[in-house]
Amino acid sequence: MGHRGTRGLAPENTLVSFQIANRFTPYFELDTMLCGSGELVVIHDETVDRTTNGKGRVSDLSLEEIQSLDAGAFFSEEFVGESIPSLRELFEKMPSNCIFDIEVKSEGEEKERIRLAEALIPLLKELKIENRVFISSFDSFLLGKVKEKNPSLLRGQLLDSVWKEEDWKVSEPDLILPNHRSVTKEWISQLHKEGYLVIPYTANEEADWIRLKEAGVDGIITDRPDLLLSYLEK
Ligand code: G3P
Ligand code: CA
Repeated sequence: MGHRGTRGLAPENTLVSFQIANRFTPYFELDTMLCGSGELVVIHDETVDRTTNGKGRVSDLSLEEIQSLDAGAFFSEEFVGESIPSLRELFEKMPSNCIFDIEVKSEGEEKERIRLAEALIPLLKELKIENRVFISSFDSFLLGKVKEKNPSLLRGQLLDSVWKEEDWKVSEPDLILPNHRSVTKEWISQLHKEGYLVIPYTANEEADWIRLKEAGVDGIITDRPDLLLSYLEK
């Protein structure tokens, strides 16, 4: 799965990043959160500071303000003029065979996280994309809300290096998305026995791909889908 499109080759989470990634794979990871005017936008950080020529919290800026920013120049001159897509726009512009891991992020209180789920679920339905996505998050409360609103959507629990099973099993995920450094063959085999698919993030080195493949993972999230594809073909 191309991480934020293809973060290693293009400005992360922009349309062009997904278009370039799509030369190598139809599977992508993206990050999304609500902006100030209520739309879901595709961006990783809580502010626009790192990836655009603007400043401010995503939750304080309208879609129009966010889309007036340049989201390509920070990566390289070649990408000047790229903008932050809304989730709707990204889904409308990408080919209909693409599969998305939608990582939902919310910095807010419970009601903000519920608002995010309430914006996401109808959008997926309207765009008829429910069977081509899964929803992932580190936030098991948010995953639980997604399940409440649409139990048939696949959900992936993201795990950092340290976690307690009782914290995430409550969200009853379909997939486990661990930090790739935590993966062992024994653990993958246990998770498979329990019925989970396992797709670790974010592995960019051949030595790690070999280790993960031997451990039996179901997929790999990478900044360089081009190199991972070459490795797999080799
Ligand atoms: O979804 C996997 C990975 O993207 C989680 O970490 O910080 O890159 O969103 P982060
Ligand atoms: Ca992510």
